Amino acid sequence: MKQTPQLPKGTRDFYPVDMRVQNHIFSIWRQAALKFGYEEYEGPTFEHLELYTGKSGEEIVAQLYNFTDKSDRALALRPEMTPTLARLVIQKGNELKKPFKWFSIPRLFRYERAQKGRLREFFQLNLDILGTENISAEADLISAIASMLFDFGLNENDFTIGISSRRMLAEFLESLEVKNPNLIYPLLDKRLKMKAEDFEKELLNAGLSSEKIKTLNDFMNCSSIEELPEGQGVSELKNLFELLKAAGYENCINLDLSVVRGLAYYTGIVFEVFDKNKNMRAIAGGGRYDNLTETLGGQKITGVGFGMGDVVLADLLAEKNLLPQSRSDLQVFIASFSSDMKVLFKTAAEFRKKNIACSHSLNAVKLTKQLEMANAAGAKCVVFADGEKSKDGVWEYKILATGEQGVAGLEHILKGVENG
Ligand code: HAM
Repeated sequence: MKQTPQLPKGTRDFYPVDMRVQNHIFSIWRQAALKFGYEEYEGPTFEHLELYTGKSGEEIVAQLYNFTDKSDRALALRPEMTPTLARLVIQKGNELKKPFKWFSIPRLFRYERAQKGRLREFFQLNLDILGTENISAEADLISAIASMLFDFGLNENDFTIGISSRRMLAEFLESLEVKNPNLIYPLLDKRLKMKAEDFEKELLNAGLSSEKIKTLNDFMNCSSIEELPEGQGVSELKNLFELLKAAGYENCINLDLSVVRGLAYYTGIVFEVFDKNKNMRAIAGGGRYDNLTETLGGQKITGVGFGMGDVVLADLLAEKNLLPQSRSDLQVFIASFSSDMKVLFKTAAEFRKKNIACSHSLNAVKLTKQLEMANAAGAKCVVFADGEKSKDGVWEYKILATGEQGVAGLEHILKGVENG
């Protein structure tokens, strides 16, 4: 038998029922970004390979979908948005008035082992603030995360934002006289996923003595800011927690030294968002990256931001029953008692001129069939184009949710739709 075409591994089809969920997520993402004053930008879905190699960190480079084009250029599908953002910012340099707050909802590609919460093609909301070293930028971003998760209907018992600092870690590793901290970060990032003996073995291999490993372990187990050794990194953390407390989000955040972040470019505060039971992969992650534009050959423009993926978020919303159940776009279904196609087209055209979303049968079928179609399409209201009492600008109607029936002009009908 001939094989039918198959969906590539780690990708998704979006049938209309799935698009409903996707549009709901995008719409709340976009509203939240605008509510916090971020402006939208976009870039290409593929970039020169070298934008990623050596700058994003080994894990992402190993996951690149890269290819050579017909002119022998080495290219890669974008696995994340931050290098593209850095490129855009470098190109405009001084033309951009700083600081500025931008957002984007890119489609991203990573050759990952497809598993729950991780796909090979996904979407990610990115919010970034460029051109300020002030910790208020971190507070703005983390407030935006908490605020948008509330907008989705989640509450502080559903998620937590774990916060740590690369700068604090760097200061601590320096005090331990660790020579190659960049070798240690990926290990600290994986620490809780590894066996204690393996973690210790890897640190010994990286040149740390048993005594230093013990000090490092004690440090990594700190759970309150007060326990941490004084330093610039710690005082930044304190300021950040105070700002977030003032904004009313203190119950959404916690100090979490296990948040290190796999990406190589972070230099300051780092954070990750998890479901409260930590059953799922991270919902979002981000941090400060003050040297990325310089590393890419441009002038220094400091940055901080985060990415929130659609996959884990949708899983969590589904678990909490917070996803839209029915279509919400169709306001009116127009029906005809006499199955008159002309009157249907005439009335629909009239409604659409007034920007009302409406639909009708494309076949001359009995009224009962038309009403079945109205229900199946999730219409809020049925308008009878040729009801006995319908005349110019006035129609017989029925609001499906409430059963309210009557004869009225459009404005009145739509009010009923809104309340229904
Ligand atoms: P990331 O931690 O690699 O950071 O990704 C952020 C979020 O994107 C993750 O927490 C997860 O929700 C989602 N995500 C990542 N990989 C996948 C995947 N394979 N399938 C589904 N979802 C995924 C970054 O990408 C940084 N560029 C974020 C950032 C922006 N940092 C500063 N600005």
